[in-house]
Amino acid sequence: MLPITFSFPTTTLFGAGVLSELPARLEKLGIHRPLVVTDAGLVGTRAFLRLAATLGEVKRDHSWFVYSGVHPNPIENDVRETAVMFRAHGCDGVIAIGGGSPLDVGKAARILVKRPGLDLAKFYDEPDWSGLVPLVAIPTTAGTGSEVGRSSVITLDATKRKGVIFHPELLAKLVMLDPELTMSLPPKLTAATGADALTHCIESYTCPVFHPMCDGIALEGIGLIVDALPRVFKNGRDLDARGKMLVAAAMGAVAFQKDLGVIHSLAHPLSTICGMHHGLANALCLVAGMKFCAARSRPGLYRRVGVACGLNVMQCSDEEADHHTIAFISDFLSGLELNTRLREHGVKHEHLDALVAQAVEDPCHKTNAAPVTNEDFRQLYLEVL
Ligand SMILES: [Fe+2]
Repeated sequence: MLPITFSFPTTTLFGAGVLSELPARLEKLGIHRPLVVTDAGLVGTRAFLRLAATLGEVKRDHSWFVYSGVHPNPIENDVRETAVMFRAHGCDGVIAIGGGSPLDVGKAARILVKRPGLDLAKFYDEPDWSGLVPLVAIPTTAGTGSEVGRSSVITLDATKRKGVIFHPELLAKLVMLDPELTMSLPPKLTAATGADALTHCIESYTCPVFHPMCDGIALEGIGLIVDALPRVFKNGRDLDARGKMLVAAAMGAVAFQKDLGVIHSLAHPLSTICGMHHGLANALCLVAGMKFCAARSRPGLYRRVGVACGLNVMQCSDEEADHHTIAFISDFLSGLELNTRLREHGVKHEHLDALVAQAVEDPCHKTNAAPVTNEDFRQLYLEVL
């Protein structure tokens, strides 16, 4: 048996209104001149105004600054600009607020603060990641769970593809999960980001790596999402359900330190080539991916996923348990209006070769429940096109 590291280290504050604790927490972390990293879309929202009001309460001799240039699919220049601004203002910590993109940029910029000349495409050559400036991560969507992740997905100049910059030192020092900050997220975005969290839980649970702690977290995350996501989709002001979705999204990301699978490999090229929202791409590929895994790996793969969804599938045959669970997920996505085809979102037949080529290169499917070939990817794309 290979040795495995179990690691759940991030301090997380959860609850409606916990953002008000930020000034005291910054003081404790020794942050007196934070750089707030976000995107242009968030500036002016209620969530950002609440952050600004909260930071306005810090002591008179303290200052804070804002970098709001993060792209929806962040690029290397976003990270470089953040680091340049950080140094120019003599900042001493990062507050990343928003969806996955600002959180990823805020995380990664800290290595360039420490090593301005580092080639991000060769981040793995950097021998010393100690002493990165502290990061406070505040998500305003419930999906990627980037706030508890130790990686940062950035489109690199050298390759023009999404690169995953990974190091345990990238972890935030503090995560604040305040459901009041997600209240104004519109239903479509709420559904798509929530589907990303659901896919993280399902794919990490079925990924064949020995990690029973992550398995337990993934299954509980599925239970929370099945309960809460339809409620926030119908009523965005449901604070209890918003809170459960925030926790479930963080759980999905904790669980996928195990790894992911074929569905994320299908989804990533749909974003880089066709500009599709990551959560939507996962949602549209989820059922096809689950059917593929059920047919190619061990029967009964999804039985406990079904139980987590509240289905009575313990007495069924393995095949019936998989069938009922996949049918439930299909109906669940339909209820969230996530049952459209790729072609309704601008994906065309002529994109197929490029999509397949990138999907095969994507690392996520290396840990799928069953091996995936070029032809499998082509068939799966055709199934959902
Ligand atoms: Fe994802």
